[in-house]
Amino acid sequence: MDKVLPDLLFEEISLLPLEHPGANDPEYRERRNYIAGLAKQFRLDPKHRIQDVAYTEVETGVWRHVYDQLEEAQQRRACSFYLGARQSLGITGDRIPQLNELNEKLNALTGFGLAPIEGLVETRGFLSWLGDRIMLCTQYIRHHSRPDYTPEPDIVHEVIGHVPNFTNPDFAEYSQFIGQGARKANDLQLEQLGRLYWYTVEFRLVEEGDDIKAFGAGLLSSFSELEHAFGDAVERRKFDLEEVINLPYDYSDMQPVLFVIPSYARLIEATREFIERF
Ligand SMILES: [Fe+2]
Repeated sequence: MDKVLPDLLFEEISLLPLEHPGANDPEYRERRNYIAGLAKQFRLDPKHRIQDVAYTEVETGVWRHVYDQLEEAQQRRACSFYLGARQSLGITGDRIPQLNELNEKLNALTGFGLAPIEGLVETRGFLSWLGDRIMLCTQYIRHHSRPDYTPEPDIVHEVIGHVPNFTNPDFAEYSQFIGQGARKANDLQLEQLGRLYWYTVEFRLVEEGDDIKAFGAGLLSSFSELEHAFGDAVERRKFDLEEVINLPYDYSDMQPVLFVIPSYARLIEATREFIERF
């Protein structure tokens, strides 16, 4: 990948908020800054290749813990496409995959690629890159004191939650479509597009036979969200684009409303009509 990522607005990576589980652990902060530094080199220098991260035993232990816990819940809750895709990409609990190896496989399947990024990016920047079939992807991992929790995207969320779905050509097309929309959206439209992304990419449910299954990255990368999504406290609604783009969400809490998304054909058509208004 030879692209230079443009200036992006994101939180200064070295400033962890006090509630972050790693905020008072200097070793963790140093490590996270080091990994972010690798991503920054890639972003700023077009000749720089994506660097593999030599993950430590502690980091791999966190990965294994989360993977094993999710595995059992995903077998019950995840849609069959996701489970097959995760397996075909060779994602296991034994080791944290590198972006380079995932890129080789994704590029061959759908032309999608992952680019390392230092941290959470503002909505327009993040979504816009999907328009070039690139997902910006953090590489650091959550703090070991709370392996079941992260207040921000990390390598677990990106690789276990998002990456398998990019092997689906329809999903790749849909993601690219959202990205192209983000480039021309005004601020209100961008907010609406962000909600569409939230409910259809992060927290999507799908019908599978008579069952409802999880597809979204926010569900598939969090044991508690995955269990919560199928509990009584959640209202599961039929997809309606107007409803989705007008329903605010709170990223810091469990989701009270989820949408069951219909076929890609319907989703893409509704999204196309929405973006044509921009
Ligand atoms: Fe995400």
